[in-house]
Amino acid sequence: MQVNHKHYRTVWMEGSAVFMIDQNLLPFEFSLFKSVSCSDTCIAIKDMTTRGAGAIGAAAGFAMAQGALEAPAHKYAEALLEAKKTIEQTRPTANDLFFAVNEVYKAACINSDEAVKKAMELADTNATACRQIGEHGSKLLQNHTRIATHCNAGWLAFVDYGSALSPVYVAKQQNKNIFVYADETRPRSQGGRLTGWELYNENIDHAIIPDNATAWLMKKGEIDLVITGADRIAANGDVANKIGTLEKAIAAKYYGIPFYVAAPLSTIDKNTPTGEKITIEERNADEVHYATGPDPEGKMRTIRLTNPNSNACNPAFDVTPAELITGIITEKGVIHPTDIKDIILIH
Ligand code: MRU
Repeated sequence: MQVNHKHYRTVWMEGSAVFMIDQNLLPFEFSLFKSVSCSDTCIAIKDMTTRGAGAIGAAAGFAMAQGALEAPAHKYAEALLEAKKTIEQTRPTANDLFFAVNEVYKAACINSDEAVKKAMELADTNATACRQIGEHGSKLLQNHTRIATHCNAGWLAFVDYGSALSPVYVAKQQNKNIFVYADETRPRSQGGRLTGWELYNENIDHAIIPDNATAWLMKKGEIDLVITGADRIAANGDVANKIGTLEKAIAAKYYGIPFYVAAPLSTIDKNTPTGEKITIEERNADEVHYATGPDPEGKMRTIRLTNPNSNACNPAFDVTPAELITGIITEKGVIHPTDIKDIILIH
């Protein structure tokens, strides 16, 4: 996508270095982070310098390629396995991360050139799939459709285009007037910070809303359709996505509003039978207690938001049961969640 009239991907590799847009600084500063080692790329995934299911998938693939480039010839196989394990421990929920590491690991077992080639290829596939998701999903959007989304499943969350926002970008190119409600997505505010930034840059009419406003707007008839992303889709069509997705889906069902999930097929985890078995990342309680942003003079400050003596718990994802999902927008078209099992048989 374009930033200041220049095309960027969210994450890419040049030589042995991995570059990523630093998402911890957005929307206040646009800056690139350069990682020169597998372990630095792992830290960047863990601390969410890069984030979003598809972006961490691509970054993890690149990290695996860096692991292969760094591996000494005399203990190549051992070093590869060590790198794979380290990358897999960065974040547990998004399937793309494990998918990419595994694919690049297999290529790395041939040699490091093959590993780099595979990591690049996966990043390209990720961008192409998202573009196709946009084309299929845009058919669900009419002129004046008002869409609610959650977290950031735009191009920052993938290599390019995004999943939930890709249909919005394609609809805009088709000259449809659309409106997006982006909820803030506490505690890390990916909706308020990143989706807001993307939509503003793409000139899409939108409003950032508090996390607890969606059901009310649905009741008032202001939301026509919901599209969220997905981090992992179980074989029965249950979907793990950013915490708060489940309550949007329940509210949408109650008010008879279509609830779509947009995700590339690499999000499907055929080895996980139901959402019950998906590992949900638990993040640091400080993400709930504190927020960071610029003060009116532009100086970055971190402030406490909660009672100093209270504990917090911070589950980063939840699981929406398949029965609450109207359809899953994939690169192959829109499918019913219960048809995931047929897709698994084909792939
Ligand atoms: O910001 P993250 O990496 O914790 O969130 C993951 C996600 O990107 C969201 O859950 C998103 O909706 C999934 S689609 C990329």
